[in-house]
Amino acid sequence: MGYTNLERMLSNAKVEKYAVGAFNIVDYSTTRAVIKVAEKKKSPVIIQTSTKTVKFYGYKHIVSWVKTLTGDMVIPVALHLDHCNDIDIIEKCIDAGWSSVMIDASSYPLEENIRMSREVVEMARPKNVTVEGELGSILGVEDDLILTEHDSHLADVESCVRYLKETGVDVLAPAIGTAHGVYIKTPNIDFGLLKEIAEKTNIPLAIHGGTGLSPDMFKKCIESGGVKVNISTNIKHLFKDALEEYFEASTDYEPIKAIQHLETRVMEGVGDLIESFGSANRA
Ligand code: 13P
Repeated sequence: MGYTNLERMLSNAKVEKYAVGAFNIVDYSTTRAVIKVAEKKKSPVIIQTSTKTVKFYGYKHIVSWVKTLTGDMVIPVALHLDHCNDIDIIEKCIDAGWSSVMIDASSYPLEENIRMSREVVEMARPKNVTVEGELGSILGVEDDLILTEHDSHLADVESCVRYLKETGVDVLAPAIGTAHGVYIKTPNIDFGLLKEIAEKTNIPLAIHGGTGLSPDMFKKCIESGGVKVNISTNIKHLFKDALEEYFEASTDYEPIKAIQHLETRVMEGVGDLIESFGSANRA
C-alpha cells in the first residue's frame, strides 16, 4: 500500500481491534528509524509532525523524506500534521502532499471549532487528505501551548456527535483525561467516556498523550475504541538520551556512528510500542 491517508489504515484497525502509532518525528533520522522498524514489524505507521517541526524544516523536505523512505514498501505509511489551528499552514501541508492533517480548534467555542474544522474538511476532501479534529482540552505541553488542570475539560458525548455530523472529519481526538508531556501522576483516563463516544459516533478515535501510558492502559484504550495513539515526548527523550549515551561512552568524533546509535534506540523504543498497540503483522 505504501504512502496513504488514514482512512483504510484506521478502519482496518477499528475492525481488527488494534491501534496504529502516530510518532512525532524530529528529524530525518527519527523518520527513517520509525519507518524502518514499522517495516520490520510489518506494521502500519503514521509519521506525525508538529507545526514547529514543519516550520523548521519546510514543507517539501518533510514530504520528500517520507515518500522517499516509503518507496515501494508494502506497509501503509501516512504523513499526518499534528495539532494545528492555523488554516494557512494546514493548506500548505495539503498542497505539499501531506496525506492527513489535524485541525485543532478545540480552544475555541464549539461553533467556531465546527466552522474551522468544516473549512479544513472542504479543503482536504478533493485531495484525498484525511482530517482529525479535537473536542475538549487535552492537558500538557504541545508545541508552545501549555494547558494546565485549570483549563481541563473532557469531551462531552453530545458535542462529539454534533461536531462529527456538522464537520465530516475522519478521526476524532476527544479529551478523555490523558495529557501531553511527562505524567507527574497516574492519569485518570475516562475509559467509559471513550467507549461511549466510540459507540455513539462509530468513528476512529485518536488517543493523545501516549508517552508514559502503560501497556495495560493502551490495551484498555484500544478495547474502548482508540485506534490511533500519539507519541511525541517519548521520541524526544529517545533522541536526547541516545546521543548523550553515545558521546559519553565514545572517544571519537564520528557523527554517523552517533546517528546509527540514535536510530537503533528509536527503533527499539518504537518497536516496543508497536507491539503494545497490537499493530505488528497487520500490514
Ligand atoms: P506525548 O508527548 O505525551 O507523547 O503526546 C503526544 C501527542 O499527543 C501529540 O499530539
